[in-house]
Amino acid sequence: MTIKVGLIGLGKIGATYDLHNGNLVSHLKTILSDERFKLEFGYDPSLTQCNEVKKKYGLVNIYNEVSDIKKACKDIDILVVASPTDSHLNSIETFTNFLNPKILVCEKPIAGNLKDSQKIKSLCDEKDILLFCNFMRRSLPEFINLKKNINDSSDIFYDVIIKYSGCFKNNGAHFIDFLNFVFGKPIRIISKYSEVCKRNLTRARASIEYKNAVCTLVPLKSDKVTDHEIQILSDNSKIIIARAGRSMQTFLISNDYDFLDSKEYVKTKDIDTNYLMFQKHVYNDLYNAYTSNTIPYNLCDGDEAIFNVQFMEKITK
Ligand SMILES: NC(=O)c1ccc[n+]([C@@H]2O[C@H](COP(=O)([O-])OP(=O)(O)OC[C@H]3O[C@@H](n4cnc5c(N)ncnc54)[C@H](O)[C@@H]3O)[C@@H](O)[C@H]2O)c1
Repeated sequence: MTIKVGLIGLGKIGATYDLHNGNLVSHLKTILSDERFKLEFGYDPSLTQCNEVKKKYGLVNIYNEVSDIKKACKDIDILVVASPTDSHLNSIETFTNFLNPKILVCEKPIAGNLKDSQKIKSLCDEKDILLFCNFMRRSLPEFINLKKNINDSSDIFYDVIIKYSGCFKNNGAHFIDFLNFVFGKPIRIISKYSEVCKRNLTRARASIEYKNAVCTLVPLKSDKVTDHEIQILSDNSKIIIARAGRSMQTFLISNDYDFLDSKEYVKTKDIDTNYLMFQKHVYNDLYNAYTSNTIPYNLCDGDEAIFNVQFMEKITK
């Protein structure tokens, strides 16, 4: 069985992040390198973008006009939306008007506002399309393990500190989803502050209470260095996920001989998260979703994707 995929948006996550390295983080390279999938078409309104990927991979089925796709493609099994966030709804409306995919994978966040998010979900429900939003950390085995370990120890309380750079609405969305994925639905926002800075970038700081955790999001000031780091601390252990997800380290407590009656965290493991191949893991989940006709439990479904957008709006409004 070969699963036919249509890809909208050939920018960074669509096609170019891994154009010149050995990583597997773009949809295009992952589809082309996995024989379970076949690229039915790639679409981007930018001719430059189309020409770049055509040349790199020797492809002919890359289009910058929707009308050409209408003529060339009969149908697809999966539609992947990797256009800019504010155009997700429009992309989905346009393509589901003449195609009937069984699954729609929408890049994160599902949309730029709650209204669009709800419209995307309704449209998929009406057309009987399985919808999920690609928060790719959810597909990485080490992140699934982390969730399992934390969920299995519900009597342990965690302090979580997340430092992130860039825009809350873009990069912050990953961490709001990560928290909901690992700790469940938030109970309340303890404190929040947000501001819109130059280039329309939103910086949001918030402390959020979960059943067995308090999580604090800290926006970093620098717009020259990108850095994302998650620290999960308890009385017994500490986990640090740094460099966006590429590095994961675990620590256990031990006596601190420098300070009387004190404990300190001591590193026990460096874990390879396989982060730079994340899209390969997403497509494994996608294959399972397609063959089982259900969204695997670890993925972010339409309701959760809407919840994320709604919750982010609560923090920024
Ligand atoms: N899961 C992840 O880790 C991850 C990483 C990066 C981006 N994203 C998400 O993916 C989406 C795209 O982000 P990006 O960083 O690749 O952006 P980008 O700007 O690099 O690429 C967007 C591409 O879409 C094209 N485009 C513009 N209007 C379009 C339209 N109406 N229809 C189709 N294509 C259109 C542009 O020409 C461009 O090539 C965003 O929603 C973003 O939040 C997810």
